[in-house]
Amino acid sequence: MGRMPAKPFYLTTPIYYVNDAPHIGHAYTTVAADVVTRWHRQRQEDVWFLTGTDEHGEKVLRTATANGVSPQEWADRLVESAWKPVLETLDVRNDDFIRTTEPRHESAVQAFLQDLHDKGEIYQGSYEGPYCVGCEEYKLPGDLVDGTGEFEGQKVCPIHLKPVEMLAEQNYFFRMSAYADRLLALYEEHPEFVQPASARNEVIGFVKQGLQDLSISRSTFDWGVPIPWDSQHVLYVWFDALLNYVTAVGYGSSDDAERAQLDRLWPANVHLVGKDILRFHAVIWPAMLMAAGLPLPHQVFAHGWLLVGGEKMSKSRLTGIAPSDIIDTFGSDAFRYYFMRTIAFGGDGSFSWEDMVARYNGELANGFGNLASRVAAMVGKYFGGVLPTAGARTGLETDLEAVAATAVADAEAAIDRLAIHDALGAVWTLVDAANLYITETQPWKVAKEPGETDASGAGVDGGRLATSLVTAVEALRSLAVLLHPVTPKAAQALWELLGADAALGALDAQPVSSAASFGVLPAGTPITKGAALFPRLDETA
Ligand code: MSP
Repeated sequence: MGRMPAKPFYLTTPIYYVNDAPHIGHAYTTVAADVVTRWHRQRQEDVWFLTGTDEHGEKVLRTATANGVSPQEWADRLVESAWKPVLETLDVRNDDFIRTTEPRHESAVQAFLQDLHDKGEIYQGSYEGPYCVGCEEYKLPGDLVDGTGEFEGQKVCPIHLKPVEMLAEQNYFFRMSAYADRLLALYEEHPEFVQPASARNEVIGFVKQGLQDLSISRSTFDWGVPIPWDSQHVLYVWFDALLNYVTAVGYGSSDDAERAQLDRLWPANVHLVGKDILRFHAVIWPAMLMAAGLPLPHQVFAHGWLLVGGEKMSKSRLTGIAPSDIIDTFGSDAFRYYFMRTIAFGGDGSFSWEDMVARYNGELANGFGNLASRVAAMVGKYFGGVLPTAGARTGLETDLEAVAATAVADAEAAIDRLAIHDALGAVWTLVDAANLYITETQPWKVAKEPGETDASGAGVDGGRLATSLVTAVEALRSLAVLLHPVTPKAAQALWELLGADAALGALDAQPVSSAASFGVLPAGTPITKGAALFPRLDETA
């Protein structure tokens, strides 16, 4: 019998509400997910990356109504005009896109509900209490904060800073309270289940206070998945939405191939979420899976918020910036690089145009792009654009190769703990060291020394000039591999100008580990200068 193939690395983003178009806060989650999954692909792992849209619930219904269209029409419009196109804008390589209004999702959700009902996990009761439509969440009185400004004297949602609504409805309830002990045991036995540590502590603290049963149906509107045994009720939107992670990969399907996909992909390795939706993923979702007897995901990782003026960027507070506002000027690579590099993943961060321009010019244009153009230009000038044969190595060459090996090891470890910013920091040690190497070896000076060039001024094989340019080219080859997950367009352009496509095959096929050692690109490979990878931007523009 052959070996079982390794389980694919399955990562998800939250599914996005379609009440509005994406802003850079949403793009942040998606880009992080894309960088991590592309990194795993570069390791030559089998990967599955799921994203999609959350289309039911009161919030979407109200927006549609306010715009005079049916919620389905509204969702279709937003998905086609905004949510799918933004993936292209961000250069995202997802494997699937799930919409909660798709039949594959709705029918599987009903199967899940029926199963829980049959297992005695659901009962009928009545709910009375605060509800935030912005969060689509039943709140506890203790969750609310004092309002300010126009809401002075009222209790408001701490995230939306708006008053909550009081609900009093007959509902179906999920026996979530029964799972508190099992959840606490899960957090204890699997510290990796909720990360980072701050998120884990928050969740443990929350569950330790005791859990209430969860109201999982609404009967005052009908935009949702009908409860299979009582069509007067639609399913609570979060119960519906969380299930996308299994319905998208075949849960509840009657098709054999789709069910085989569930066995292959589930449980997910990572659910990436913003910290505002941590409890849903780290408390409600595992309790749902426990109740259904399904395996639990390995990890829920909560990242921080993009802040504007110290508050969460949001469309409802009119602080949302569309991704294309930035990408039109800087390009998708720079967008991806900026947010992944500058914000410690897990913490909050902010965006400013000044900082973006400064980092673009300093790190991408001068640091990385200029390294590539200088090296390619010198190979052009001294070796007619053909990679020479290197001569004897000195300590400078072994040192630079050691930097590459350390960068790979550090970046790999950082990606495994989802410290994306540290992974980029590690890669940048190679950018900086390669620039320093050029400064120290001074190829343009070496070229003037006897024996380094022939009578026509062309560099000779085996000399120090050849060694330094070959070594710098090898550093660039490593960087193309390491930056491919983060800045895919520039990495591909670099790969092509290094002639590596023809010499070594597609960039996709180069394992991350191949970036750790030099001496790979064969002598004779044609190297072209190409266009600047990151043209400098005018700082005053
Ligand atoms: N529909 C739910 C998720 C259901 S998942 C089963 C939802 N949607 S959302 O569109 O409001 O948010 C989706 C993601 O965008 C969340 O991870 C959220 O944290 C992220 N962000 C929205 N605004 C953000 C910032 N200002 N900063 C960083 N991420 C933010 O919640």
